[in-house]
Amino acid sequence: MLLEPARKWRKFVDDKKNVFSQFELPLYISPKSFGLSSKDRLKPMAVLVTGGAGYIGAHVVRLLLQRGDVVVVVDDGLTGVSQNIAPLTPHVMNIADDDSVDKLEQIMLDQDVDAVIHLAARKQVGESVSRPAWYFRENIGGLANLLEAMNNAGVRNLVFSSSASVYGDAPAGLISEDFPTIPVSPYGETKLVGEWLISDCVRAQLLNAVSLRYFNVAGAELPQLGDPAVLNLIPMVFERLDQNKPPRIFGNEYSTDDGTCVRDFVHVGDLATAHILALDSLKCEGPAGHKIYNVGTGTGTSVKEIIDLIIEVSGTSLRAEVHAPRLGDPAYVTADPSKIKSELGWYATNNVTDIVKTAWQSHEFKRRS
Ligand SMILES: NC(=O)c1ccc[n+]([C@@H]2O[C@H](COP(=O)([O-])OP(=O)(O)OC[C@H]3O[C@@H](n4cnc5c(N)ncnc54)[C@H](O)[C@@H]3O)[C@@H](O)[C@H]2O)c1
Repeated sequence: MLLEPARKWRKFVDDKKNVFSQFELPLYISPKSFGLSSKDRLKPMAVLVTGGAGYIGAHVVRLLLQRGDVVVVVDDGLTGVSQNIAPLTPHVMNIADDDSVDKLEQIMLDQDVDAVIHLAARKQVGESVSRPAWYFRENIGGLANLLEAMNNAGVRNLVFSSSASVYGDAPAGLISEDFPTIPVSPYGETKLVGEWLISDCVRAQLLNAVSLRYFNVAGAELPQLGDPAVLNLIPMVFERLDQNKPPRIFGNEYSTDDGTCVRDFVHVGDLATAHILALDSLKCEGPAGHKIYNVGTGTGTSVKEIIDLIIEVSGTSLRAEVHAPRLGDPAYVTADPSKIKSELGWYATNNVTDIVKTAWQSHEFKRRS
């Protein structure tokens, strides 16, 4: 069933999309200035965003502020950039630290927090392989502390940043939420164990939760909000171009149309909207529960197609070179997004060209500044 408030918020975002994407847009815009009357949306909330200074977090914070919610950010600043959420100032703390339960509880009580969007996590797959215990301590320890603080402060609504990495090496075809979850890295395991922990808390403490399993996130809503990490295909290709080296394709004999791996790329602005819809669905739901949704477009794009687009958008004269396939790279990873569409009314509004163009603009911005 499509939730009515979700439908309205979706329409609000679609109608104002051209306004949202203007670089000059001040960070704080009252909903009224978009002509949105109070009956058109849910009551403003006080939302705690962990990891809010990060790449995805800054996009989520921006949308929350734009619609008039009160936003409180907790972030340790290790990979996030606090200027990206100015004029907000984050509470700087590591939520995996022993004293964070009390600190988080106090913040929630002081700010009268209604809901939490939990994005704070370490996210480097390779690093998680070499430091598994630290990944569990940071990602699971941090989540456990947060859940305890929420319980103590009586905060019942949670949106959790999960990942398609919970599926591991999924077979070809669209991946739906009921596919087997067999992560292949400690990072993916922390996301799956995080979902289990949330389910347990839902049963024990009447938590209401949504976990969003993101597919390949890329692009930027504003040039200054691009992904600073070089962990995914698009930033990795940009880095090669900066070094005046040809982009690399790892394997071109997979069983896909052009022989290169196929992935599902979702624009970070669309992903941020999914968090708003998830948040609002928590307020609409009666009994406690834990809903899990894929956030992807359902459209696969090959590595070669992405690199061709980057070559076109950047105007480089470099051409891709083919290397041996990497161990453990599945041929085809694409979301079945039908559940989030039918239940929350979410769908992607940006295509892969928008993703590459906005990622490139933000890369250029970073280089200039
Ligand atoms: N970017 C992707 O492609 C992607 C894909 C799937 C899932 N995710 C998940 O989305 C979330 C956000 O990712 P992102 O790309 O914005 O990463 P990011 O590194 O840019 O942002 C994460 C933020 O959380 C902070 N943080 C991390 N651990 C913390 C801790 N223990 N205490 C306090 N602050 C902490 C970091 O300093 C950073 O500011 C993460 O949970 C990540 O696992 C990201």
